[in-house]
Amino acid sequence: MLLTSAVDEVGDLATTVNGLAREDNELAAVQQYLPRRRSGSRRRIPMTRPNYFNNVHKAVRAALFETSLRVARTDFGELEEASATARNVIELMDFLDEHAGHEQRFVFPELASFAPLLAAELEADHARMDELQTEIRRFAHAVHGPSKEDREEKGRRLARALSLLIADQLRHLDREETEANAVACAHRTDAELAEIQARIHASMPPDHQARLIRRVIPALNTAEQAALLSRSRASMPPAAFSAMLGLAREALGTDRWTALARRLGLEVVAA
Ligand SMILES: [Fe+2]
Repeated sequence: MLLTSAVDEVGDLATTVNGLAREDNELAAVQQYLPRRRSGSRRRIPMTRPNYFNNVHKAVRAALFETSLRVARTDFGELEEASATARNVIELMDFLDEHAGHEQRFVFPELASFAPLLAAELEADHARMDELQTEIRRFAHAVHGPSKEDREEKGRRLARALSLLIADQLRHLDREETEANAVACAHRTDAELAEIQARIHASMPPDHQARLIRRVIPALNTAEQAALLSRSRASMPPAAFSAMLGLAREALGTDRWTALARRLGLEVVAA
């Protein structure tokens, strides 16, 4: 027994060391995509460049974690409870599909022009996660059945598949935020990258834009919310910006909305 636990500990340590080595390798992997200066050295990416994945990925993580907690707390033997959670899971899958679709249509083709291997690996992640997401959808549709035992079994399988998806998603989101963002910043200006974001936004129907705002704003801290809304105020017609403020207020609740309104210099009106 003692030997087994010692072996397990050595195994855990090896996993940690391999993980750290992998991080170094990943940082080294980014270097190959960075343009060279005339001197031959690689250009460094200033820390002041924005992370273009930050806001939407915070919303993705929030949705994954919140849904995972909800699934864990659901008694799938109770039909109504199981159905409500299943709807929530389907909405999460729709959000993940939409987000992946935007990256595949607008981000990866651009990335492939200067980092083809990285773009191909990120696409392969999407394909693998898509299979898991299809399986999760199948379980979510199956938790409405007439048999209590069957619903409970499908609920357990749904929870496991969702946990495995979260494990895959976390590693993938991190690669996009570190490796993909670094190489994108090395090869494109902020104006060019903002243009890609604007094209993604313009491709979305208004109800999808509103749904995304409802997901993104509460997932950010107050400084990030204020930066996002300030940029929107500068670029949107007043009526559209006012509608966006309404969505933010609704999504944040009184305390967080008050903090944001103060940061934006808006007059805080009692609800
Ligand atoms: Fe992605």
